[in-house]
Amino acid sequence: MVGLRFLTDVLLFTTVLAAPATAPYASDAAKADDFNPYQYTKKFADCAAVERDGPSPKSIKLKLAYLDINPTAKKTLVLVHGWPSLWTTYRNQITYFKRNYRLIIPEHRGYGDSQHPLGLNASNAMYDFVGDITCMMDKAGVKSGVCVGNDFGAQVCWEAGRSRPDRFIGVFNVGIPYISADVGFSTNAALAQLNPSFSYQVFLGSNPTGAARELNADIRSAIRSCAQMGNSTTPKDFLQRNDTFLGPWREFEKTNNLKEIPFSGIMSRQVEDYMVASYQKQGFYTTFNGYQYGNRKLTFDFEKAQGNSSLPQPTFTLFPTKDPVADWQGLADQVKSSAFLKNYRTATIPTAHWPHEEAPDQFNLILSQWLGNVTFS
Ligand SMILES: *[C@@H]1O[C@H](CO)[C@@H](O)[C@H](O)[C@H]1NC(C)=O
Ligand SMILES: *[C@@H]1O[C@H](CO)[C@@H](O)[C@H](O)[C@H]1NC(C)=O
Ligand SMILES: *[C@@H]1O[C@H](CO)[C@@H](O)[C@H](O)[C@H]1NC(C)=O
Ligand SMILES: *[C@@H]1O[C@H](CO)[C@@H](O)[C@H](O)[C@H]1NC(C)=O
Ligand SMILES: *[C@@H]1O[C@H](CO)[C@@H](O)[C@H](O)[C@H]1NC(C)=O
Repeated sequence: MVGLRFLTDVLLFTTVLAAPATAPYASDAAKADDFNPYQYTKKFADCAAVERDGPSPKSIKLKLAYLDINPTAKKTLVLVHGWPSLWTTYRNQITYFKRNYRLIIPEHRGYGDSQHPLGLNASNAMYDFVGDITCMMDKAGVKSGVCVGNDFGAQVCWEAGRSRPDRFIGVFNVGIPYISADVGFSTNAALAQLNPSFSYQVFLGSNPTGAARELNADIRSAIRSCAQMGNSTTPKDFLQRNDTFLGPWREFEKTNNLKEIPFSGIMSRQVEDYMVASYQKQGFYTTFNGYQYGNRKLTFDFEKAQGNSSLPQPTFTLFPTKDPVADWQGLADQVKSSAFLKNYRTATIPTAHWPHEEAPDQFNLILSQWLGNVTFS
């Protein structure tokens, strides 16, 4: 649908307004509402990639965007976003952790200003995403760091920690438990049978063109549908359809006589506008790269072939208890996550899917305490 392209609008709009919040938070009510994404300038790395969807694999280069904040600090956190999200999901961590840490914040291939392979199905395995991040770290001259992930980004961080313990000396993830290849391969459809709220992944995986048509037609609704909090009212069957993403919200709007999906306040209007502008650049199609059968199967085969499914370094999962997507703690027990994690801790937090945005004070405290377990060299 959209081809390989690369835009720099964001950089052109970079402003020189007054410096934003460096103040510590007094409470969660004082989120970084004045966080201005346009004040941050992206860096770019030319990274090796493989075009794998054609008749034979072809080496290519991708120009990938990332942020490198406080580059003189000795300890690095790598903050990895999910879907439908962006580096701005970590705005409350940027303002808090940039005082003591260097922050490398990737923009995944296919999102915002990062290029992508032409093929969606099989050119974007998890090891490709991990390779993108180590390429950015190379470019920045960062040997190692702690991987912090949420949503799809948590899956990337688990694989980063497993496959590159030399680069990722700790892993701190939100929600998504570690699922070792020993558990076996499951298609999106099989996962949706286990947990109906994974059905949207069947839609994004099996009909990316249709899903992109729907979401590109109303990018703001696409983002807002997911950017809800623990106290939000959401349609019962949201995420549970494999033929539409916004359909349940359209019904909800009709039933409740609303003109649009309610703005939850989890982010400021400026951050929402920035996200909309970012998703306008390439559209949604290329952001479905984590959900395709080919990529998922290649990922599984790779992990299985390497055979080492345990992570020796310090790891942590923060389980949100009001997440409409899944009972992550229940899933973690089912797949016996803790059996594979040698230095593992967990905690819960009473939020929906994005605790680092919904309850940043609590989140930042939990993360900063746990960071004491990591030996940065
Ligand atoms: C798993 O195996 C790969 C390939 O041999 C290796 O690079 C990696 O360091 C191993 N991971 C762990 C956690 O030992
Ligand atoms: C899609 O959902 C319907 C209704 O829940 C179900 O019958 C069907 O098997 C699902 N299709 C796939 C590919 O999972
Ligand atoms: C949810 O809580 C926030 C405060 O954290 C508040 O601003 C918002 O109005 C609440 N929303 C609803 C729908 O109650
Ligand atoms: C997706 O990739 C997998 C693995 O390479 C391949 O088996 C499958 O045929 C591909 N499917 C499509 C629709 O291209
Ligand atoms: C390790 O992490 C736990 C949980 O966050 C924390 O309570 C503990 O203080 C940490 N240990 C060190 C040495 O910082």
